[in-house]
Amino acid sequence: MEETYSESEAIRVEARLAERVRRLLRKYSLLNTRLKPKSTEGGKYVVFPIVNSEKASSILEDFDIPHEVVIDTFQAIKKAKRLRGPVKSYKVVGDIVVFSRRAGPPIDAYIEAAKKVLEDNPRLKAAWLKMETFGEERIPKLIHLAGAMKTETVAKEYEIYLAVDIAKAYYNPRLAAEHYRIAELVNDGEVVLDMFTGIGAFPLHIAKRKEAVVYGIDVNLEGLLLASKSMKINKKLKGIIILINADAGKLPFKIQFDRIIMNLPRNSKQFLYQACKYVKDNGIIHIYLLTDYIEVELEDIMKIMLKEDCKVQIEKVKKVLDYSPSQSIYVIDLRVKKNGENTHE
Ligand SMILES: C[S@@+](CC[C@H](N)C(=O)[O-])C[C@H]1O[C@@H](n2cnc3c(N)ncnc32)[C@H](O)[C@@H]1O
Repeated sequence: MEETYSESEAIRVEARLAERVRRLLRKYSLLNTRLKPKSTEGGKYVVFPIVNSEKASSILEDFDIPHEVVIDTFQAIKKAKRLRGPVKSYKVVGDIVVFSRRAGPPIDAYIEAAKKVLEDNPRLKAAWLKMETFGEERIPKLIHLAGAMKTETVAKEYEIYLAVDIAKAYYNPRLAAEHYRIAELVNDGEVVLDMFTGIGAFPLHIAKRKEAVVYGIDVNLEGLLLASKSMKINKKLKGIIILINADAGKLPFKIQFDRIIMNLPRNSKQFLYQACKYVKDNGIIHIYLLTDYIEVELEDIMKIMLKEDCKVQIEKVKKVLDYSPSQSIYVIDLRVKKNGENTHE
């Protein structure tokens, strides 16, 4: 099985305090138990992945323990037993296991692997094989492999619960760290537009932590129905979420936004003209792109934005996940200067 790494909020302490801190974080269920803590700077510090930095920090403050809140990357803890045979990897969404069809292994190999995973993990109730994905809504064709016939579940990302139906709307648990990162960047009072919201993961992460107004747009009504279910499951949202079943190319807004999220990695560039129109001066656009060569995409984006009379400063370029041996999904954070020059830092 390959090693996987995820970004997480974290607490960094001096190594001499690590055991005490570990016990405290465990006691208050604040450790992110899916990721491995690590030691840094030649063993001088220990960094613990955690689920709620605000709470963890206030507890450590109560105990007068010096610490730093950081974001870091950690190795995932492999809880599942290693699969033998040609099928090695799968995703877990709530209590459902999802295998992705790759060239090579026959369906029987997936059935065998699925049975083994369900047997080893009684918490997991169903296993499906994801074949190709269809249409602009990115809904997969599924084959049932083992366990219950259910496709609906609740996934957890950090402290957020997400209603998911793997047969009805796009969802990828590997985007959790990105949902979290964007929510952390949002300031209280912002008005945010999520142009391709799916099941509303970005709006939910943002509204959980920030007093912001977030508009979630999607052509897939099923995704929005799941998002509204999640709004009921997640108590005490600080922000407001407004869901609109619409084509992001035909938006009806009379307002502009502080921040626009464009997570449609195959086609997002086609909608940049809309983002340009609706972003405020000095606002931010987060655009996700599926590509094998990010430098070319950056040049392309600069050209498109200039044509739209929208000047940008590139604040961040980051690989979000590997998609295939040659292609990855990247995110670019752009600050829009409506009266400035394009700059690439
Ligand atoms: C990659 S998924 C979004 C995932 C979501 N942002 C997340 O982080 O979980 C892309 C979404 O865009 C939606 N979509 C595709 N074309 C669209 C359009 N023209 N207008 C609005 N939504 C669209 C699809 O239905 C799908 O839910």
